[in-house]
Amino acid sequence: EKGGFATFMDKEIHDQPTAVADTLRGRVDENGRLRLDEGLIDEYVLKSIDKIIVVACGTASYAGLVARYAIEHWTRIPVEVDLAHEFRYRDPVVNIKTLVVAISQSGETMDTIMAVRHAQQQGATVIGIVNTQGSTIAREADAVLYTRAGPEIAVASTKAFLAQITASYLLGIFLAELRGNKFPDEIAALLSELDAMPAKIQRVLDTAEPIRVVARSMADEHTVLFLGRHVGFPVALEGALKLKELAYIHAEGFAAGELKHGPIALVEQDKPVFVIVPSPHGPESLHAKVLSNVQEVRARGARTLVIAVEGDEEAARHADEIFYVPDAPVLMTPLLSVIPLQIFAHELASAKGFDVDQPRNLAKSVTVE
Ligand code: M6R
Repeated sequence: EKGGFATFMDKEIHDQPTAVADTLRGRVDENGRLRLDEGLIDEYVLKSIDKIIVVACGTASYAGLVARYAIEHWTRIPVEVDLAHEFRYRDPVVNIKTLVVAISQSGETMDTIMAVRHAQQQGATVIGIVNTQGSTIAREADAVLYTRAGPEIAVASTKAFLAQITASYLLGIFLAELRGNKFPDEIAALLSELDAMPAKIQRVLDTAEPIRVVARSMADEHTVLFLGRHVGFPVALEGALKLKELAYIHAEGFAAGELKHGPIALVEQDKPVFVIVPSPHGPESLHAKVLSNVQEVRARGARTLVIAVEGDEEAARHADEIFYVPDAPVLMTPLLSVIPLQIFAHELASAKGFDVDQPRNLAKSVTVE
């Protein structure tokens, strides 16, 4: 059932083109409107919401952080992302004009369930982005948009993450269309950008050998840092989480812009630092800013491990190791740039002889608060 792979995680990493393609399939009706899977939300309600709050834990919360960039950009609706276990306790401002989006692979994470219930008590509308059919969040939410990633067995989430980003993007595109933020041709362009992603994800998988080789050489590292800006920031957080949970290595993800505000003090000779470098064809100055962060850490002795888009020779000049992913519109890039980081954690943990599918102290779904 591992499909010829040594671990479920490796299989699930390779399932990612299909997970994204399946999550996209058949979602849009003849009027360009999103099909939700279960439950109906009055369009009037969706037109009148003035805020979105994503509630989720762990990797699912990082999918929410990625989605925030896209949904705010496309819809102009403010988006907050709350760790589900913090949500209730901060006395959040939630009312009938709030749309709460609960993201969960299992649909059984107790903290996220409790956040959903709290939101509903305050009158909010809840959409679940859930992988498991008939799970508690799927049943309790007002509507569900299923991620069709298939069963995820490995404790470390991989294909569910990509499917969660994909489903959240569909929701953002749907809201932009419904609320008149985008013209039909713009909506069609966004959908076709998404449709192009499974093939690009496959290409990342097909060209992943260099990251495996580097990962296997790094089994004795004690700390690895991850830097990203814009959507690269949640990707950095996810890369660090994967490494912590699988390889038991201290890893931290930072917003690259925060470097000078503290984290750069951690950089010393030969310290490995991953940097997610955005496409040079993206928003003005984003690429240049992140490249200057690469130079800053390298000047202090860091060993720079750079994820960049194919053809970015400037990034290669500042990298000790470079890993290429296909170019894509900036909001689509997390679906690509996270994959080398997943593979890195998988390979490094395997090289240390750890049980990649069942890391110590962790459960696949956290059903207690
Ligand atoms: O089932 P859920 O998506 O609600 O789970 C949320 C987190 O527990 C989960 O993503 C966790 O962080 C993973 N082990 C990360 O790889």
